[in-house]
Amino acid sequence: SKSETRQRSKSKGTGYRITRKREEKKKPGKKGRETHLSANACLMPICQLHGAAVTTVEGIGNTKTRLHPVQERIAKAHGSQCGFCTPGMVMSMYTLLRNKPKPSMEDITEALGGNLCRCTGYQEIIDGYRTFCENNNCCQQNNNVCCKSNESRLLEHDKNVELFRKEDLLPLDPTQDLIFPPELIRMAESPEQTTQKFHGERMTWISPITLDELVQLKTQYPQAPVVMGNTNVGLDIKFKGVLHPIIISPTRVRELFGVEQRPEGVCIGAGCSLSTVQSVLERCVCSLPAEHTQTYAALLGQLRHVGGQQIRNVATLGGNVASAYPNSDLNPILAAGRCSLLLQTKVPLDKDFFVGFRKTTLRPDELVLSVFIPISRKGEVVRAFRHAPRKTNALPTVTTGMRVWFHDGSDVVREMSVYYGGVGACTFCAERTSQQVTGRPWNEATLNEAYRVLVDEVTLGVSAPGGQVVFRRSLTLSLFFRFYLHVLQYLKDMVRLVAEVPCEQNSAMEPLPCVIGPGYQEFQVRSAQDPVGQPVPHSSALTHATGEAVYCDDIPHMNREVFLSLVTSTKAHAKIIHIDVSRALDMPGVVDVITAKDIPGQKFQSFTGINEEVLYILLPLCRIFVTCVGQIICAVVADTKQHGKLAAAALKVTYEDLPDRIFTTEEAVEQCSFYAPQRTLQRGDIHMAFQEAEHIYEGEIRVGGQEHFYMETQSMLVIPAREQKEVKVYLSTQHPTCAQMSVAETLGIPANRVSCHVKRVGGAFGGKITKASILACITAVAAWKTERPVRCVLERGEDMLITGGRHPVLGKYKVGFMNDGKIIAADVHYFVNAGNTPDESVLVVEKMLVQLDNAYNIPNLRGQSVACKTNLPSSTAFRGFGVPQSMVVIENMIHDVAMTLGRPAEEIKEMNLYKGLSRTHYKMEFDPENLHCCWVECKKRSELGRRRPAVAEFNRRNRWKKRGIAMVPIKYGVGFGHSFLQQAAALVHIYKDGSVLVSHGGIEMGQGLHTKVQQVVSRELNIPLSLIHISETCTSAVPNTNPTAASFGTDANGMAVWDACQTLYKRLEPVRKKDPSGTWKSWIATAFQERISLSATGFYRGHELSMDWQKQEGRPYTYFTYAVCCSEVELDCLTGEYRTVRADIVVDIGKSINPAIDIGQIKGAFMQGLGLYTMEELKFSPSGSLHTRGPGQYKIPAVCDVPLQFNVYLLPGSQNPFAIYSSKGIGEPIVFLGSSVFFAMKEAITAARTDVGLSGPFPLRTPATPEHACLACNTHFNQMIPKMEAGTSPPWAMELP
Ligand SMILES: Cc1cc2nc3c(=O)[nH]c(=O)nc-3n(C[C@H](O)[C@H](O)[C@H](O)COP(=O)(O)OP(=O)(O)OC[C@H]3O[C@@H](n4cnc5c(N)ncnc54)[C@H](O)[C@@H]3O)c2cc1C
Ligand code: FES
Repeated sequence: SKSETRQRSKSKGTGYRITRKREEKKKPGKKGRETHLSANACLMPICQLHGAAVTTVEGIGNTKTRLHPVQERIAKAHGSQCGFCTPGMVMSMYTLLRNKPKPSMEDITEALGGNLCRCTGYQEIIDGYRTFCENNNCCQQNNNVCCKSNESRLLEHDKNVELFRKEDLLPLDPTQDLIFPPELIRMAESPEQTTQKFHGERMTWISPITLDELVQLKTQYPQAPVVMGNTNVGLDIKFKGVLHPIIISPTRVRELFGVEQRPEGVCIGAGCSLSTVQSVLERCVCSLPAEHTQTYAALLGQLRHVGGQQIRNVATLGGNVASAYPNSDLNPILAAGRCSLLLQTKVPLDKDFFVGFRKTTLRPDELVLSVFIPISRKGEVVRAFRHAPRKTNALPTVTTGMRVWFHDGSDVVREMSVYYGGVGACTFCAERTSQQVTGRPWNEATLNEAYRVLVDEVTLGVSAPGGQVVFRRSLTLSLFFRFYLHVLQYLKDMVRLVAEVPCEQNSAMEPLPCVIGPGYQEFQVRSAQDPVGQPVPHSSALTHATGEAVYCDDIPHMNREVFLSLVTSTKAHAKIIHIDVSRALDMPGVVDVITAKDIPGQKFQSFTGINEEVLYILLPLCRIFVTCVGQIICAVVADTKQHGKLAAAALKVTYEDLPDRIFTTEEAVEQCSFYAPQRTLQRGDIHMAFQEAEHIYEGEIRVGGQEHFYMETQSMLVIPAREQKEVKVYLSTQHPTCAQMSVAETLGIPANRVSCHVKRVGGAFGGKITKASILACITAVAAWKTERPVRCVLERGEDMLITGGRHPVLGKYKVGFMNDGKIIAADVHYFVNAGNTPDESVLVVEKMLVQLDNAYNIPNLRGQSVACKTNLPSSTAFRGFGVPQSMVVIENMIHDVAMTLGRPAEEIKEMNLYKGLSRTHYKMEFDPENLHCCWVECKKRSELGRRRPAVAEFNRRNRWKKRGIAMVPIKYGVGFGHSFLQQAAALVHIYKDGSVLVSHGGIEMGQGLHTKVQQVVSRELNIPLSLIHISETCTSAVPNTNPTAASFGTDANGMAVWDACQTLYKRLEPVRKKDPSGTWKSWIATAFQERISLSATGFYRGHELSMDWQKQEGRPYTYFTYAVCCSEVELDCLTGEYRTVRADIVVDIGKSINPAIDIGQIKGAFMQGLGLYTMEELKFSPSGSLHTRGPGQYKIPAVCDVPLQFNVYLLPGSQNPFAIYSSKGIGEPIVFLGSSVFFAMKEAITAARTDVGLSGPFPLRTPATPEHACLACNTHFNQMIPKMEAGTSPPWAMELP
């Protein structure tokens, strides 16, 4: 067995999903049965694995010997882009297949529910693994529509729909799988088991074997935690720095794992994992009459949503009860369901058990041995409901367990019990409400009485931790209402005393649809012989899937290597009075503390090369003043990461608070806190036009920021050479030249001594340009000073705190329009929250204005934009560079116009689209023909004409579920908008054996750039892809590179490589002519003999671009990528939860070089946009400290968010003379199309508002999280919550931007 548990998780908080290595843990069960469990490396204590066989992704197959089908299928189905998440996906699926070789689709989505991917959009992963299902497509569960109907769309002439061939896949042969190691079986069966002790530097781990021993240990060390699944204790140790000198691990004490089914209920050992509890309850539900299994069924419903499968596999029932999370899903239902605990004595698990935040009445020396869950009685109804920010793998916002017991044959309540989680410091018993209802008949009058008491009983202060105060209180009512309806239904069925549940109310009880159908796509290939245009898998996909792919932190540790840990500001605006490094320096393993004094060279950096005065930014190490929480103050160098972390925590910084902190754009405007220049872009005469307009509307939208959440956090290794001041920098960056120049300047050495190397990047999305360079400088200073290799790898929470993300924007607009919907004037202001340094914000502000018109021809248009300087971490580049924020404001404006006129938004949009040869608002001429084609095609493909009335009918029939449908176009200018950035270089070597090594300036970060470049080389040299290799991007091979960004990577680097290949091909022409029947290898051999150079550089000099802000005109792009998306959602108005039912995207991508990669980019970008506009919410405390520092608090889309039907069509017949082989850039544009989901939600909310008599435009911020969506519905539950008194205390989180 392979017991390597490389911990690649950079996550914080819940720390689960991005563990790159999933382990499969096998333990012999009672009768020697193996159990296979997927688990998170980052939460699995190594001592706990004693006696288990651990398999990592490397253990199941590799490219040198034999691939496992699970590895092969994710790779061939294009389910791997940057590859950082791929091993985790592989191991989750592998474990599922070990337990169930023929899984259902539900099994697959559940197994992958605990894994996150930031690149792919998940569809390809699901579709790759769908091939393991017996009935691998049709489910007929989406409104009885067969998923296989996709296949019936096969095949109009010259269109392709399949991105991979199922026939080419390796079969699954379970006999080939690893066996459980016999020595471990012998060990498990050995009668001589003894207590185990493991001693670490600061901790002792004791694993007893008997209950007596365990009790004794607990008495001896009452403060020592009993570590079972470690999902609670582990987080405290890892992220809060809690130290437990003794840990007791009773995972071998048999008494904690027993299960006993008795006539009065089931007794489950406290040590049973939640997965085991699930299986036990499933058995009970199957074997007992339904009236006895009410509590079991309710518990099962909750358990399905607790964490992901990896968490449920290890987290225990006893641990859940004892750790007393305030929003535990299980405790409310266990308490409502009359459960009891067996400690050394029997204790009821009721309102008196939970006494405070993570506190129970358990004494420190007491143990929970088992939990008794009684059967439900005749006349008893038990239900549990939860609402969480994401459908799966998210702690609930509010959760509840409710039980009502009726007098025999009557609808009069005999007993009632209601518990909530998420509404205070501990599980809360709504006792008064229960009393109020007891003795009354189950009807609306009782319900209204219950609401009245509940509102009064469940209260939350303005500053309650977790915020969302009104929403949470509103949920307590709406979930109670849901319970009311369920019980009514029960009474109707069982007692027949009450009337039917009104059919439009049924929707409150029905779940949202959730079955994901296979993805469908249409594309064109050029010719079967042409390597360009083929859906070739990502060139590293197989090594991603086998774990062989090397990322920065996989570089083996070097002799004398040390680790760098950062010390960051805890104040948003303060003066540093003193830094006391003495304690840190005295700590074990500490080598040095690096401060600004240690910088040998320049202490400032300029990152854009333009307008240096404005864009000069202070290197963080040099500050005396701190201007945001999370600003880097200094750094500790230590022998290990752990020592560095401890020393960094011990280093003491004394601050003096400074006044006038600025956090919001409004505050910045008030105090004129801006980065110059402010920009205006205008055409026509808006003042005149407003006078002519038949309607004028003024509105605004708040657009939240976004965290990059690249799976590989910022990582680097700097190695100082022994001689001539050379430094090697291995790092995860999109811009190696920027890092090279910055490091050289900071160290005061010429750039020719610094080489930057990037093999691959585990996701970047714009976040690894300036920020990676700053970190590289600091790491380089440490390496320079200590003369040792220094590694710096940020943890997820640090990364989120320090590096900033997408700019939050406040957009305000005034729009003038005519009765027919024609928009004649718009005046738009963007207030951009740039944070505490300029970074690239002024460029972002400019791009926002340049792209402001989107696809609409508004004759009189003015945009004004300003970057606000605030005391938040500096915002930076993020996929789309301001465009997703800019355009959503315009789109919102158009939706407001439509709502004012009472017309479908797509009619207003269509009327205002650019048509015929046009000019943008900065006078650039372009032909919007393909934009129009995308629009028409999308309307047709999405069947909008048929579906809009169907949506209206759905909304008429359902009060609590509403649907919405929206179409959104994009016209996206590809490239940087500056001539000097329109260049790239390449170097191509042909070796004597005919193999080709390509170097270019672009970075492979998952977008498939290297694969496309290899396709270019393959076509130009007319050789197979197998002969072409790209090893890394290195500043020594190709100098002076530009960032890989702006959707321009292939356009620039593809052309540079093309140029080099042309040179080589021409050089070989005489050889080929002389020997036309020769082979590539023979020609190369001859060329060498004839002294023909087999190495060439290539260069791409792009088109001249310009933007004259004085004249308000220019040509910042050579071409536009066009696309249109139509999305439909279903919204649960009681909770604000929604599901994207269908998304159809039509894209003009020119002639695709690789349709599989491009479609992967389209789907991935759409999902990232869906996250931006509807899910991912950054929350800052009133003192400017980021609350959302990990996957536990910050929710990016997961498998459960994939549109149920996801169709992508590449527009046929498109040409683009401005880019290589007539292709188009695609990395960024589609992010904006995620807003179609936001606007579909807005439509659904509009329908809900209509039911309460509201009409016309209404504000909805992005992300439209369930909280904002639910409150915008303005249901009577929302209205029942009394208004908060303003000014009493600050809310938990600020209202940004
Ligand atoms: C990523 C993630 C997602 C999660 N999502 C959810 C969710 O959606 N819903 C939800 O309800 N919970 C959720 N949780 C919480 C999780 O369910 C609990 O952390 C888990 O049940 C605790 O069990 P454990 O065995 O891991 O406890 P441990 O971490 O091992 O121990 C926790 C505490 O309980 C004490 N303890 C453990 N066993 C006993 C015992 N037998 N007797 C006395 N004391 C004991 C320990 O001393 C310790 O103080 C999530 C956790 C994570 C990490
Ligand atoms: S491929 Fe999943 S995170 Fe990059």
